[in-house]
Amino acid sequence: MVTPLFDAERIAEETFVKRVEVHDELPSTNDRAIELALGDAPFPALVIAERQSAGRGRGNNRWWSRAGALTFSLVLDADEMRLPPALWPRLSLTAGLSVCQALEDLLRDHEVAPGDHLGLKWPNDVHLQGRKVCGILVEVPPRPGRRLVVGIGVNVNNELSQAPPELRASAVSLGEWAGLRFQQLDVLLKILTQFERDLNDLRSGDESLSRRWQTRCVLRGHTVTLNTGGHEPVGTCEGIDDSGALILHTPAGRQRFLAGVATRIVNDE
Ligand code: BTN
Repeated sequence: MVTPLFDAERIAEETFVKRVEVHDELPSTNDRAIELALGDAPFPALVIAERQSAGRGRGNNRWWSRAGALTFSLVLDADEMRLPPALWPRLSLTAGLSVCQALEDLLRDHEVAPGDHLGLKWPNDVHLQGRKVCGILVEVPPRPGRRLVVGIGVNVNNELSQAPPELRASAVSLGEWAGLRFQQLDVLLKILTQFERDLNDLRSGDESLSRRWQTRCVLRGHTVTLNTGGHEPVGTCEGIDDSGALILHTPAGRQRFLAGVATRIVNDE
C-alpha cells in the first residue's frame, strides 16, 4: 500500500486549520480555496494538491511545479482571525517570513547549516541563496464574506532540471540545494505552525515582525529597478518599512512602494 503524502487528520490536530482537503490533482489550489471561501466551511480551511495543472502566480504568470513540490492554499476568515483590511497588504510578507523560518528550522533538523541563505524578495517570494524556492499569492475573494486566500508553492523535492529553461537559472528546490529529500508533510506542518505564530504577531502589532522582514530583505543595499505597472523607478533599496512598503532611495528622493515587481537587481557591493 502506498502511504499518502498528507495526513489530513494529523494536520487538523497539530495546526490551527479546521478543515483539510487533499487532492491528487487540481488546476489550482487557489481556485478551489476561493470556492470554499464563498461558502461557510469552518475556517481556517486548507486545500492541498499533490499536482497542479494550472497553478497561478501573480499577474498573468503561471506557477510551474512538478511532483515533489508542495502546493497549498489557506482560506482565512478575516473577522475570526481579527485581521482588519489595513493588515491585508502585509499578509504575503508575513507568510514569506513564516516560510523562511520553517525552511531554516527544517534544514537545522536535518543538520544542514542554513546560514543566512533564506531571505524575502519583496513582496512575496522566498529566496534560497539568490534563487526562488517559494512563491506566495494572496487573493481576496469577491464578497460577501471577508475571506482571504493565501496560496503557497514551495519547491521541496521537485527537480528543476525538468523546469522550463527560463526558470532553471532563477529557481531552486530545497531538496536539490541540500542534497536531501524532505517529507512534504513535515514542511507543511512547520510552515503552518510558524504562520499561526506570525499571524499573532501581525495582529498584535509586534514590532519584531517588521524587524524580521527588514533583516531578511534580499534587495537591501542593491540598485533595484521596480516595475510598478505605470513607471519604472530605479533606486538603492533601503529595505522594507513597518507597513510592508519597499523603500528606494531614488534620484527624486526617498520613495515608498506598496506594490511592484523588482525586475532588475544590481549588486553594488
Ligand atoms: C508567484 O510567484 O507569482 C506566486 C506563486 C504562487 C503559487 C502557489 S502554488 C499554490 C497556490 N495555487 C496557485 O495556483 N498558486 C499558489
